[in-house]
Amino acid sequence: MHKFTKTLAMAGFAVLMSHSAMAETMKLGFLVKQPEEPWFQTEWKFADKAGKDLNFQVIKIAVPDGEKTLNAIDSLAANGAKGFVICTPDPRLGPAIMAKARSYDMKVIQVDDQFVNSKGKPMEEVPLVMMAATKIGERQGQELYKEMQKRGWNVADTGVMAITADELDTARRRTSGAMDALKAAGFPEKQIYKIPTKSNDIPGALDAGNSLLVQHPKVKNWLILGMNDNTVLGGVRATEGQGFKAANVIGIGINGVDAVNELSKDEQTGFYGSLLPSPDIHGYKSIQMLYEWVSKDVKPPKFTEVTDVVLITRDNFKVELKKKGLM
Ligand code: GLA
Repeated sequence: MHKFTKTLAMAGFAVLMSHSAMAETMKLGFLVKQPEEPWFQTEWKFADKAGKDLNFQVIKIAVPDGEKTLNAIDSLAANGAKGFVICTPDPRLGPAIMAKARSYDMKVIQVDDQFVNSKGKPMEEVPLVMMAATKIGERQGQELYKEMQKRGWNVADTGVMAITADELDTARRRTSGAMDALKAAGFPEKQIYKIPTKSNDIPGALDAGNSLLVQHPKVKNWLILGMNDNTVLGGVRATEGQGFKAANVIGIGINGVDAVNELSKDEQTGFYGSLLPSPDIHGYKSIQMLYEWVSKDVKPPKFTEVTDVVLITRDNFKVELKKKGLM
């Protein structure tokens, strides 16, 4: 009898042990819209680093569309995740994402792209980690202007190819910032040409760039701006396809980590450089805040703006990326 009780107690202890072991490794999701972009791969990598440092497991899921997003939340719930960080494939999914998360009692932090409600207004009640979009866009415009002057271009022969994605607020703010900075520097407004891209990738921007170029056959030199590296790369590829030399094109992207292949090429292309923000901080900080929220009930701030940015070109990209542990 005594032995039996002891065995029972041991079994109970074993159950307790495994329960507490389970409780130790908390699971948190990190959902991104475009896992093929090094930007998002970097966020994932640094989210994992936070998981190692703070002892939680990161479940990483690609969510290129609405259906995959909602399925991902179901599968997170089935895995016992307590919340997730997300860069949504479409800001308008915000209400559906939040309704589903709430049904599972999961906490949500948005990164990069902000949800909008059914009225198209930003869902400011959901904590957000985001780059300083307007400021970084302004810097893009200033750097384009500076490089144009350095090359001694005749402004009258120069056009701005502005590849836009206005339905995404962070994109609209970046490209508006860039155009405003160019105007403020003295670039003629009527030579700034806007063209929307159908998709936020190189092929989409290439199409946009091509259709813009045929509308302005007299322009000899192009300044190219867009919301990220891939949009600017698409624009640069369009100029190459229509016979422009690298010397007559200045493209400056945003993201930095997505420009490494281009900047590593043997010859300089029309892609002059990129503004590198901090995907490492976006990845680490967003999930760290989620962890503290879930485990210690520390509510994250509604808005965390990541401001620091550096211009990388062929000359300094290796050094700058190494400084941030990104290469
Ligand atoms: C958007 C873009 C990404 C990247 C992030 C940064 O999500 O699509 O390429 O620039 O913003 O916040």
